[in-house]
Order: sequence, then structure tokens, then C-alpha cells
Amino acid sequence: MIFRQLFDRTSSTYSYLIAERSGGEALLIDPVLENADQYVQLLNELDVKLALAVDTHIHADHVTALGSLRQKTDCATAMGEQSAAECVSVKFREGEKLCVDNLRLDILYTPGHTDDSYSFVLPDRVFTGDTLLIRGTGRTDFQNGDPGAQYDSLFGKLLRLPQDTLVYPAHDYNGMAVSTIGEELQHNPRLQVDSRQAYIEQMNALDLDDPKLMDIAVPANRSCGMKIAA
Ligand SMILES: [Fe+2]
Repeated sequence: MIFRQLFDRTSSTYSYLIAERSGGEALLIDPVLENADQYVQLLNELDVKLALAVDTHIHADHVTALGSLRQKTDCATAMGEQSAAECVSVKFREGEKLCVDNLRLDILYTPGHTDDSYSFVLPDRVFTGDTLLIRGTGRTDFQNGDPGAQYDSLFGKLLRLPQDTLVYPAHDYNGMAVSTIGEELQHNPRLQVDSRQAYIEQMNALDLDDPKLMDIAVPANRSCGMKIAA
């Protein structure tokens, strides 16, 4: 399998390029608009054709490259059925799979950070978007965020994956690149709660500033990054 973790320094976003084989098709998860040319170059260098670009959710801190990549590569674009991004060519739901060549990623609906948050699962790894971060979890205070739903997504779904499953999040702000489910269960401070209510109270007490780009990124991402307000 071809696997590349790509980092956007401005927004601390991780994007992921996955393909079964050289000469085959590729999937991009959470691509960032400013890096679209870099992705196209890398796709060419690895000799893979972009078949599908997906976002785990509507991002508030960067503009997606979904629309740009569709223009540049003619790829399909997809988000979850709850997404307000009407521009995507496919909407998926839990229980379906992302299929690229012979790769099959299971789709889990993991709301809480937003109401359109999804995670994608391969046998040895999971792409957790902003639901489960390394030693953290995604904030739940805007975009229909819901700390109770996030607790259910974490403890009812993601943390039930095998403990050695690799965790690849959509962001990291501390220089960490990858973790495992077992490591997060043991060491993630947000997960050391003894009840759903305790998790909700913890998240509601965070009192965070809005992301700098939120007023630009959220509306732009509803159009797959193709309509950006000045
Ligand atoms: Fe997010």
C-alpha cells in the first residue's frame, strides 16, 4: 500500500494519500486548498490517479481542496450525508465503504465535533478526523457540535477498535504524527472520565476562542472551497 501523511503548516492539518499500488487509483482524505498543486505533483510522482477526495467533516480552520482537485484531476468528491456541502458528487453514510482499487475503508459516523463528522477504518489504522486527536479530542462548541454525541462516538465506536489500531487524526498541534487506540485510552487526558456527563462537563468548560479562519472557511467549504469570500 502507498501511504503518505501530508502536513499543512498553516492550519496544522494532516491530509492522507492512500493507494493500493503504483499505477492504480488514489484516495485523498482532508486535502487543503493551498496544497492542491503539491498533491497533484505527488500523485504524478507516485504514478497514481486520484479517484476520490473526501473530507471527514466541514472544516472551520482551513479551506478544503475538494473542488480544486475535482477541477484539476476529475476525481469524485465525497462527504457524509449530514454535510451541508452540496457540491460533492457522492454522499456516504455509516456502513458503506470508501472503495479505491481493492482498498476498502469502512465508514463510521462519529458526530460530536460537528454533526457531519466521519471516521474511516482500514484493518490496521483509523482516520479519526477531529473526533479523536492525539492526547485530545475535537472541540464541540460550534457547527452543531455536541459533547454527548462525541462521547458516544468515542466510547461506543472508535475506542472499541483493536487497541493496536493506528490513529491518524486530521490535526496535531504538538508535533505528534500517529498514535494507537490503546495509547489514547491510557494517556489521552480527555478520555479519563468515568461517565458521559463528566465528559460533557469537561468539554463545556473549555471556553476556546473561535478558529481564525472560521468565518471564511466554513462557508467556503460548503462549496468545496470554490467560493471564497474576500
Ligand atoms: Fe474540525
